[in-house]
Amino acid sequence: MTTENKWDLKYSEEGFAYGTQPNDFLRQNLHQLPVGGRVLCLAEGEGRNSVFLAKQGFEVVAVDSSAVGLQKAQELARSEKVQITTIVADLAEFTVEEAFYDAVISIFCHLPSPVRQFAYAQVVKGLKKDGVLLLEGYTPAQLKNNTGGPPSKELLLTLEILKNDFASLNILHAIELERDIIEGRLHTGPGAVVQLIATK
Ligand SMILES: C[S@@+](CC[C@H](N)C(=O)[O-])C[C@H]1O[C@@H](n2cnc3c(N)ncnc32)[C@H](O)[C@@H]1O
Repeated sequence: MTTENKWDLKYSEEGFAYGTQPNDFLRQNLHQLPVGGRVLCLAEGEGRNSVFLAKQGFEVVAVDSSAVGLQKAQELARSEKVQITTIVADLAEFTVEEAFYDAVISIFCHLPSPVRQFAYAQVVKGLKKDGVLLLEGYTPAQLKNNTGGPPSKELLLTLEILKNDFASLNILHAIELERDIIEGRLHTGPGAVVQLIATK
């Protein structure tokens, strides 16, 4: 089964797998994003973060390989009376225009290493000068928790990986921590995460 099919299947279930409310780290750090800017949401799934950002006045582009997820993202946007642009694409091949985005949001986007490196290079390229990257993802410490996240270490993130991949950015916030994550039926308790906020 391909990654795409796996996520299409999950998102075909009733309701929203990660809820309709935004990720906590994003909500808490909204003030770090350039007001009303153009934002790219990576691996955005069913659109909870995109719709939240659109409601705050941002111009949002959401990319994900799951057509089913992004269709639900558009339905959520319609029900909240906002507009978002959705692009069905594999991040292994998704390219961005240089210096196009004021911010990039990456919430629980877990990719195999070569894909991650390609996608992160696109993030750096796509950010405008002073543009902001906001990222939260699970670390290998999450494997013991059984409260969500990818099952294999290869897909998990560490501070070391992020500092290395985003060495050209200025880091404002970088931490590994455990926090309670109650975000839909698939993220359900203590979560070991890494968080990054950085500017170009
Ligand atoms: C854990 S979900 C997170 C969804 C969303 N960011 C959120 O927090 O609600 C991971 C998402 O990554 C997407 N994804 C996984 N591999 C991908 C790839 N190679 N290209 C694009 N999206 C991918 C999946 O389709 C899924 O929507």
